[in-house]
Amino acid sequence: MKKTARAHTNIALIKYWGKADDHLRLPLMSSLSLTLDAFYSDTSVEKTDGPNAFYLNGKKKNAADSKRVFNYLHLLQTKFSLAGNLIVHSTNHVPTSAGLASSSSAFAALAAAFCACYQIDVDKKELSRLARIGSGSASRSIYGGFAVWQKGHDDESSYAYALDEHPPMDLQLLAVELNSGPKKLSSTKGMKEAQTSPFFKPWIKRNDSELKQMVSAISNEDFTKLGSLAELNANEMHAVNLTAQPGFTYFEPDTIRAIKLVESSRENGIECYYTIDAGPNVKVLCQLRNVKEIIKNFESEFKNVKIIEASFGSGISYLN
Ligand code: PMV
Repeated sequence: MKKTARAHTNIALIKYWGKADDHLRLPLMSSLSLTLDAFYSDTSVEKTDGPNAFYLNGKKKNAADSKRVFNYLHLLQTKFSLAGNLIVHSTNHVPTSAGLASSSSAFAALAAAFCACYQIDVDKKELSRLARIGSGSASRSIYGGFAVWQKGHDDESSYAYALDEHPPMDLQLLAVELNSGPKKLSSTKGMKEAQTSPFFKPWIKRNDSELKQMVSAISNEDFTKLGSLAELNANEMHAVNLTAQPGFTYFEPDTIRAIKLVESSRENGIECYYTIDAGPNVKVLCQLRNVKEIIKNFESEFKNVKIIEASFGSGISYLN
């Protein structure tokens, strides 16, 4: 039977940036994220007597572009001693212009639709583990609000849990599109190379403490602490990239301009912070009262800039 699941993307405030196990996608650090309402993937999985087929945004993908999806589905089939061909339809409501990776919502929705199609009864913890094998960040998209992916030490113990699915906090995210070109370096390659930085290990050592501080900022609804710590953590991630051997960066000149704009807005009393993932685009964390002013500042600094507003999104849901 055809089953469809919806998952929202998430943005990490404490980043996952390093694997302890490439195949199981066990991370070297725990991470914490915010699930976003504005961006999501709807994915359906259906058994077929014909060949496997993968449609993305209505278009049939060729074998090379379907490889990651079917490698993943075969892995799940093997895990549950299942077989047979499948048709997968996925629609990403994640504008490429948002500069947000869709892999978190894509693999969370795919894992959920797969289990629903085969009527495999999994709880959210197990679903998170299954999603993790598709894409690390997908483990957190099972939940709404704030989620923590505890690194664990094996397949059983590495999963995400909900910290607060309906946070009362005033927190908005502005996804600013500066450069919508394709990613230069995949996150898998980037996080591998980052480990050659002399600062990588010291950064990992800080993970426990930063995670605890972020959890307490959330429970105290302390926006200043949340924003400044998210900014610090993102800068730490990009610092290990810059100091890898050889060094690299996802930043473009406009990324630096955006950082400066966030800093000067802050100096002028508009409290906001930035976070940046494996790409040049910047996400601004702010509160509702400052959204308009920040958008205005970006529009006057950058020509034709696209900004998408987001807030807390919900966890996994089923559409049929
Ligand atoms: O799981 P991936 O391959 O999408 O890697 C995610 C890496 C970051 O987005 C940079 C950080 C994170 O924790 O989401």
